[in-house]
Amino acid sequence: MTERIPIASDHAGFELKEKLAAHLAALGYDVENLGTSSEASTDYPDYAHPLAREVSDGQARRGVLLCGTGLGMSYTANRYPHVRAAVAWTPEIAELARRHNDANVLVVPARFVSEESARQILETWLNTPFDGGRHERRVEKIERTEEAP
Ligand code: RB5
Repeated sequence: MTERIPIASDHAGFELKEKLAAHLAALGYDVENLGTSSEASTDYPDYAHPLAREVSDGQARRGVLLCGTGLGMSYTANRYPHVRAAVAWTPEIAELARRHNDANVLVVPARFVSEESARQILETWLNTPFDGGRHERRVEKIERTEEAP
């Protein structure tokens, strides 16, 4: 079955989000574009919440967010259980976010990456597996706030 991938941005990420959505579709994914739909000023949490909820609930396995720096989107998405949203500004960061951190939400800092670089970041994140092993234990500890040292 074709994987459905939700993608969302605020106004700062709008232009690049449309390009990455088209790229995802060209790669064969079923793209769920959750907005925003123009460059009119918006509030990034309004777009991060619905996407993070889908990933948290397991309705989507993974998703893509964009804002100017990537920070506001990641702060919001990471409040949801089981969501690991990683800001990646190079393909190397995207690769490590997958290999070591099992990132299930990619956050692209739209004001700091070129379109070509964003495409490479996206493809690296899509195609890199989680290494597991010692990283599995560490990832599991992220949500164990009650038992934290
Ligand atoms: C919008 O100007 C900007 O603050 C937003 O896109 C993002 O960078 C917030 O973290």
